[in-house]
Amino acid sequence: MRVPLASSQVSCKHYTLSLHCRARVRRFLHRAPLQLRRHTPCKCASLRYSATKKNFMIRIAVIIGSTRPGRIGEAVGHWVYEIAQQRKDAEFELVDLKSINLPLLDEPVPPSMGKYSKPHTKAWAAKIDSFDAFVFVTAEYNHGIPGALKNAIDFLFREWNDKAAGFVSYGSAGGARAVESLRLVMGEIKVADVRSQVMLSLFTDFENFKDFKPDPRHENEVAKMLDEVIAWGGALKALREQGKEVA
Ligand SMILES: Cc1cc2nc3c(=O)[nH]c(=O)nc-3n(C[C@H](O)[C@H](O)[C@H](O)COP(=O)(O)O)c2cc1C
Repeated sequence: MRVPLASSQVSCKHYTLSLHCRARVRRFLHRAPLQLRRHTPCKCASLRYSATKKNFMIRIAVIIGSTRPGRIGEAVGHWVYEIAQQRKDAEFELVDLKSINLPLLDEPVPPSMGKYSKPHTKAWAAKIDSFDAFVFVTAEYNHGIPGALKNAIDFLFREWNDKAAGFVSYGSAGGARAVESLRLVMGEIKVADVRSQVMLSLFTDFENFKDFKPDPRHENEVAKMLDEVIAWGGALKALREQGKEVA
């Protein structure tokens, strides 16, 4: 059920809301999500749920960061996405850098100036702008992240700012070194990276270093990482909507 706040009558299957209750709903929508867990604007659970869902559902991109032929990142990205899709507290979209197909950074002005000139930059900016948080699925290349992922990050600035991120990595040491370097990048683009991360071993989570057969324990790790990303993503969404970004 939708909440027609602009109309003179607000109703749901249980109540036609009183003026008093409508005012409370408006106040609730104005203040949430910071008060989401504490404040009950209306006795009608379906109204409360739909108002919450409509206004505060966090959108999260699961970004596949490797693009080479035969990559294992694609299977890992789909696995994360399938687990995430079972949740009801956020919306997820799989973003595959291979199909985004960005060239090497070709903008004449640094992205922090916000003067994007190329159609592919504008399209990438619009895509990233539509999310509140990110899960980066990254390989480890020479103890860092794949060049394609770094390039895609470097293309933009404001669209990343004041959002949250978590990581799923893989490699001989679980991709730990790649994520450590990625965390440094996150600081510069003002992304709050959560502590929990999922580290997949080339030796134990892949057969012949190729076929993805994850240990079942990693599903809980994905859930924990997503819990943190959703919590911080919601808090930062409130910050952005209040216009309190630190420029
Ligand atoms: C250019 C390159 C550098 C690599 N460097 C590392 C590394 O530093 N540490 C590591 O654990 N694995 C490294 N590997 C192995 C990768 O973890 C493995 O090939 C993995 O499948 C790469 O992810 P992808 O298949 O999604 O591209 C490297 C692979 C490539 C292609």
